[in-house]
Amino acid sequence: MRKKIVAGNWKMNNNLNQTKELIEVLKAEINEVKLNNTRVIVAPSFVNLQEAIEGTKNTSIEIAAQNLHQAKNGAYTGEVSSEMLASIGVDIVILGHSERRTYFNETDEALSEKVATAIENGFDVIFCFGEQLEDREANNHFKVVESQLKNALFNLPSEAYSKIILAYEPVWAIGTGKTASADQAQEMHKFIRGLFVDAYGNDLANELSILYGGSVKPSNANEIFSKPDVDGGLIGGASLNAKDFSEIVKAI
Ligand code: 13P
Repeated sequence: MRKKIVAGNWKMNNNLNQTKELIEVLKAEINEVKLNNTRVIVAPSFVNLQEAIEGTKNTSIEIAAQNLHQAKNGAYTGEVSSEMLASIGVDIVILGHSERRTYFNETDEALSEKVATAIENGFDVIFCFGEQLEDREANNHFKVVESQLKNALFNLPSEAYSKIILAYEPVWAIGTGKTASADQAQEMHKFIRGLFVDAYGNDLANELSILYGGSVKPSNANEIFSKPDVDGGLIGGASLNAKDFSEIVKAI
């Protein structure tokens, strides 16, 4: 049965103390929620991952990194390897976020390598993709999404997909307060699932969790999550507030 997932991407927010505090409040809030077939994941910055792993031991909150480097190790100043993350107990990673693509020039080719490295090292991958505003306005959004997925994921063997979580994040909806309508999300998610039906067959496609990301808040989560092909959300701004985030978890 395909999993429901709510993941919080904290981006470059929260110092060590703020991380500790947010985790503590989050634990109390999430404890109250009955998590039926639902995973709750948060992604603090690299420097606070170890603290977050310690702080969420024996809870149902899982911890993800926001990136990793594709190489095993070596002369890559400022980068973090899968082995380093694994050594502190991190086994989930967000890859392909639009901010990584836009500000750090991550290409489909590099992302394909990162995904392969992550999978080889036993990570779950939350793979992000989505069109820019001009793509949607030019009615190119399906094409753009299809090529992002094909270029980075379609070389993977079927077995890898038990570790892949998809996150459709239209760039025009990220941090803008302008969310895709529930119908727009459903339309795209259905299209995405269809691509996987064609490439890998029905069974695999039906098991894939496809999250929506982009200005999800307690006020709109219910409607977005009610759609049949929306299996949860990747939450930015609202995940920095434990109450809002747990309201969104309750909406799933
Ligand atoms: P917002 O929820 O702040 O729009 O961010 C979404 C996002 O980028 C999650 O990865």
